[in-house]
Amino acid sequence: MENKKVFLHLFPFTLPIIIHLSAAADFALQDNYLVSCGASTNTTVDNRVFLGDLTKPGSALLSQGKSISLANPSHPSNSSALYSTARVFTSTSSYAFDIKKTGTHLIRLHFSPFSSQKYDLHVSNFSVSANGVSLLSNFGTQFTVLKEFIIMVDTVELHISFMPNNFAFINAIEIFSAPKNFFVDAPTRFIVPNGIKEFTQNISSQVLETVHRINVGGQKLTPFNDTLWRTWVPDEDFLVLKSAAKIASTTHLPNYQEGGATREIAPDNVYMTAQQMNIDNVTSIFEFNITWNFPLGRGDSLHFVRLHFCDIVSLSLNQLYFNVYINEVVAYKDLDLSALTFHVLASPYYIDFVVDSSNSGVVKVSVGPSDLSTSLKKNAILNGVEIMNIKNFVASQAGSNKKSLWIWLGPVIGGCVLLCLVLLAGLAVFRHRKRKAKVKRVGSTGTGWTPLRVYGGSSLGVLSEGTALASPGPYGYLGLKIPYADIQLATNHFDKSLIIGSGGFGMVYKGILGDNTKVAVKRGVPGSRQGLPEFQTEITVLSKIRHLHLVSLVGYCEEQSEMILVYEYMEKGALKSHLYGPRFTPLSWRQRLEICIGAARGIHYLHTGSAQGIIHRDIKSTNILLDENYVSKVADFGLSRSGPCLNETHVSTGVKGSFGYLDPEYFRRQQLTDKSDVYSFGVVLFEVLCARPAVDPVLSREQVNLGEWALEWQKKGLLEQIIDPHLRGQIRPSSLKKFGETAEKCLADYGIDRPSMGDVLWNLEHVLQLQENETLESPDTGEVATVEHPARGEVPQFPPGSSRVERDISDGTSNISTSKVFSQLITSEGR
Ligand SMILES: *[C@@H]1O[C@H](CO)[C@@H](O)[C@H](O)[C@H]1NC(C)=O
Ligand SMILES: *[C@@H]1O[C@H](CO)[C@@H](O)[C@H](O)[C@H]1NC(C)=O
Ligand SMILES: *[C@@H]1O[C@H](CO)[C@@H](O)[C@H](O)[C@H]1NC(C)=O
Ligand SMILES: *[C@@H]1O[C@H](CO)[C@@H](O)[C@H](O)[C@H]1NC(C)=O
Ligand SMILES: *[C@@H]1O[C@H](CO)[C@@H](O)[C@H](O)[C@H]1NC(C)=O
Ligand SMILES: *[C@@H]1O[C@H](CO)[C@@H](O)[C@H](O)[C@H]1NC(C)=O
Ligand SMILES: *[C@@H]1O[C@H](CO)[C@@H](O)[C@H](O)[C@H]1NC(C)=O
Repeated sequence: MENKKVFLHLFPFTLPIIIHLSAAADFALQDNYLVSCGASTNTTVDNRVFLGDLTKPGSALLSQGKSISLANPSHPSNSSALYSTARVFTSTSSYAFDIKKTGTHLIRLHFSPFSSQKYDLHVSNFSVSANGVSLLSNFGTQFTVLKEFIIMVDTVELHISFMPNNFAFINAIEIFSAPKNFFVDAPTRFIVPNGIKEFTQNISSQVLETVHRINVGGQKLTPFNDTLWRTWVPDEDFLVLKSAAKIASTTHLPNYQEGGATREIAPDNVYMTAQQMNIDNVTSIFEFNITWNFPLGRGDSLHFVRLHFCDIVSLSLNQLYFNVYINEVVAYKDLDLSALTFHVLASPYYIDFVVDSSNSGVVKVSVGPSDLSTSLKKNAILNGVEIMNIKNFVASQAGSNKKSLWIWLGPVIGGCVLLCLVLLAGLAVFRHRKRKAKVKRVGSTGTGWTPLRVYGGSSLGVLSEGTALASPGPYGYLGLKIPYADIQLATNHFDKSLIIGSGGFGMVYKGILGDNTKVAVKRGVPGSRQGLPEFQTEITVLSKIRHLHLVSLVGYCEEQSEMILVYEYMEKGALKSHLYGPRFTPLSWRQRLEICIGAARGIHYLHTGSAQGIIHRDIKSTNILLDENYVSKVADFGLSRSGPCLNETHVSTGVKGSFGYLDPEYFRRQQLTDKSDVYSFGVVLFEVLCARPAVDPVLSREQVNLGEWALEWQKKGLLEQIIDPHLRGQIRPSSLKKFGETAEKCLADYGIDRPSMGDVLWNLEHVLQLQENETLESPDTGEVATVEHPARGEVPQFPPGSSRVERDISDGTSNISTSKVFSQLITSEGR
């Protein structure tokens, strides 16, 4: 009964009912044979009835040969009832099973030797085959073992044959259809000694034997816990260095996603536990891997390895980037589960590999932090591992599946409609991934990777491949230069109808490059060299950095006295256009927080990341752009400056930036620090909360400047009175309180009193957590007990009597900058 219950709860989250039904239909096992061998009664184990093979004489499954049934005269009571009997074969014999649905099947053979008067099963020696394919040869066992094989059955009968050397035995047999898409025939990452290739053979046409099935970070899972009655064992014994890992677990059920893993791929419990890097409250400069060694059978070299992931360690999206190594080869670089699971946290995903261990006798799996990770705490996780031996690997012959397709389609008429819908969904997934993949290409550096497709995680796998690490685009990795002719082509000769923005210096066009990448093309007024420094700044800055939350530069053009910058296209335009103004649908509080967290992460990366300290100088809501998934990216680096060197505290420079966002200290003293960006970001935070421009000259004098006005309300503790009416009732008080405090600190008069961008980021993640999970809140401080953070202690309060400079706000708009430079083209207005 328990299994039925699990079954009915397939996909409890998010999925439309159509897909729910179709998934359920997949899992109704067309073939399901459970045999208790040598038994005259039925045996129930884990709610499954194993039929005694003597219960229906005449209709016996046994097709040929000589056999006897044997009972264990001294069966221990603590052993499974299935093992109290056995069938013993003295000549070649077979069980025959009718196959209702051809396709991938699981075969489980139970062996538990015992001694009777006539036979000592411990000394038996025999071979087993399935439809003539060898499963076990010259096999014998002293112990109870369960052998699991996964095999394609494309005949109407399946024969399991026993070929004794002396005699053969078997205690129980399970044969059942694998769920649909258990294996997806798509090219798979192929890890060979010293490198990675593409494995193009169909996995489903191979015979697989399960070697390891590991619930990483969790307990042993019995068949009772698994919809496919698998046993998952803990990983501890395989850890090379136990102290490198620390268990993560959650009590929340995983967020199963269309396009990700399903409960048949692995049960909830596998995804609800993981091992993560054992780093505590220290911002670690230490980098290390967690490594597991999984021993293999003697002489076995080719293995199918399925790794299971579910980000149960991050507080918000895009915190976790890590590398996966197999046999010391980079098997998956910069794995970004947020992106792969379509921006849903704690969403199960799996990735398949084929590994040639070349007689090393082990598959070595490591996970370790990625350079891409800018999170305060670098981390890496693993939730589950399955390793299967690819037996007698043979290059498969195509075309054996036609029959099964017809048989399968036949009986389900309504299924057609479902199938179409599923296909459509799959196509959407496919497109989506393709797009994502393209974006990733930009800025990838040549690391000697061969082009590979990414797959796995997908119940619609064949349709959802995408290019993760594509070959260099038409313009190469390093040369970002794009020929003028290509840009003309992309923008249809700068067609006016493609203009998506304009500024003091020129136009922004939507364009489509030859490889179908959508781009934003920013074109300076032809012939004018005004803005050349900004143009060059943007190229130097952007070509150096690559970050999920920074808009990437696709290329540039400097031909025919043109200055053209080409960026990744940001489908949803500027943050500002989603807050107020014409034609907008209000964002939820959660969306707004995630957007702020993303932008903060981008800015934090600019300040501290590998590129070097970069100050953006023009943070505002029009420079925070959103992609099709509302992932925020910081744009417009034309004004950015390299930050102060170690022995300086600031950069002296002419005041540039945008009114309403301008750091008063910078304005007064013309000294630029990264805290100027923090100030501007604080204004953005209030803008997001209140949904009004940073400067609105139409309003009464005390309301004109959002930063000052909101700060007054925040200090009075009445911030909730000025929030965006669309957010009313959505924000938990603790979340609002923390958010207000964070913005307030950003707007401190003196840079020294403002938090670092890293602190802001952490506080915003905390705000999100308070919103999501009230129970973590401790009543007095609002601090989260379980969050670890390097920056202990709160940022100091405002110094008493700090004064505020008067700003010239007569200018009247919140967008006009003090300088009319290239970067002031508003890339996003008018979208
Ligand atoms: C065993 O189960 C099968 C199928 O449910 C049934 O037909 C048969 O009568 C049962 N045999 C015994 C001995 O209970
Ligand atoms: C059953 O009990 C015996 C003796 O108490 C013990 O040696 C054996 O390991 C147990 N077997 C199982 C499967 O628990
Ligand atoms: C079974 O017999 C073969 C030779 O007849 C031998 O090579 C093999 O090791 C034996 N297997 C076992 C498990 O004893
Ligand atoms: C797994 O199933 C067993 C019963 O066989 C049960 O006692 C145990 O609580 C289950 N474990 C989990 C993690 O659900
Ligand atoms: C980290 O946490 C441990 C206890 O969990 C504590 O003893 C130690 O002082 C903390 N270290 C820092 C740097 O906060
Ligand atoms: C992790 O393991 C890989 C492969 O063995 C190695 O190349 C890499 O340097 C390791 N990373 C760290 C941080 O130790
Ligand atoms: C893999 O299977 C697909 C259909 O499932 C078939 O079209 C293709 O030819 C097969 N490829 C190989 C190499 O067998």
